[in-house]
Amino acid sequence: MVTKLLKPTIANVKICADEIKNGGVVAFPTETVYGLGANVFNEQAVNKIYIAKGRPNDNPLIVHVATVERIYELSSEVPPLALTLVKEFMPGALTIVLKKKPTVPSCVTAGLDTVAIRMPSHPVARKFLATCGVPVCAPSANTSTRPSPTLAQHVLDDLNGKIPYVLDGGSCDIGVESTIIDLSQTPRILRLGGIGKEQLEKFCGKLEVLREQSVALCPGMKYRHYSPRAEVFLSAYYSHMVNGICKKYDELISVGRNPVILAIKGNVAQYLNRNVKCVGETYQEYAHNLFRLLRECDDEGYNAVIAEGVTGEGIGAAIINRLIKASGGQII
Ligand code: TXA
Ligand code: MG
Repeated sequence: MVTKLLKPTIANVKICADEIKNGGVVAFPTETVYGLGANVFNEQAVNKIYIAKGRPNDNPLIVHVATVERIYELSSEVPPLALTLVKEFMPGALTIVLKKKPTVPSCVTAGLDTVAIRMPSHPVARKFLATCGVPVCAPSANTSTRPSPTLAQHVLDDLNGKIPYVLDGGSCDIGVESTIIDLSQTPRILRLGGIGKEQLEKFCGKLEVLREQSVALCPGMKYRHYSPRAEVFLSAYYSHMVNGICKKYDELISVGRNPVILAIKGNVAQYLNRNVKCVGETYQEYAHNLFRLLRECDDEGYNAVIAEGVTGEGIGAAIINRLIKASGGQII
């Protein structure tokens, strides 16, 4: 199969929507990361997603909808809090987990009695989902364990020859995945992401964030994730962080490694002549650039990455979460 990269013209969006209607899979842009979609009600199509990604089939998928009404095709138990969050945050980078209807195939939810639902805000995603006319389940469009794709080219790098089309919507604004909140029981956050915990707490009260554990409640949590080939180290955030990172960098050099530092713009000069990639000026920019830079580090032959830590506020919490996973917990 030859994978075609399509500009998001009306004609091309229709080609991609027809592919979904005919039981195929298509990669499409969202404001968080690119997704690999299939018709949620077509089990054969859904299985193609798991095969293309090499994704374990006990890791359920998020179902993407174009309108609020479609949520009721997936769940008949939509609590008032869900409606509040839908009103406040959708379309946007929030995924809500609700009790599922029996009509949602269990291959989508990996046998759980709940379904994860999200309404992306990216204009191309919205046009595509509306044209598909069915809810579209989609995980991130990367090979399992690789950093999520934030450019159409990343999708091609991972899935070329395995899927027919990538709808090219340019660079994903947010750059990390959606925040997932479980509303099927006492509300709690299953995954930190594009929407800050503090924003949600304005409507939900204090929220627990599910901790990583060996028995996975959000099944995606038990897998290695977001990993480039290079070994990743995450620095804790503290006042002399730059010194600690320089020390680690120099140690890696002394044992013949080829390291690079991911740094906020304001700190870059302090690393002197060491290899540095700038993540941008703000945490928003750090999130936006993170997965792209991790992929770039591999492409450029670095075999160790030291990432600056951030505070856990807002999207900072999602950055820390992704880097802990990418580093396999190697914190310096
Ligand atoms: O921003 C995003 O959420 C992107 C874009 C494409 O929408 N999607 C995404 O999908 O990140 P994926 O597969 O990479 O992550 C989906 C996560 C997994 O950790 C999975 O375990 C969890 O959602 N999940 C899906 N259904 C669930 C459910 N019913 N209960 C708990 N967790 C669920
Ligand atoms: Mg993913």
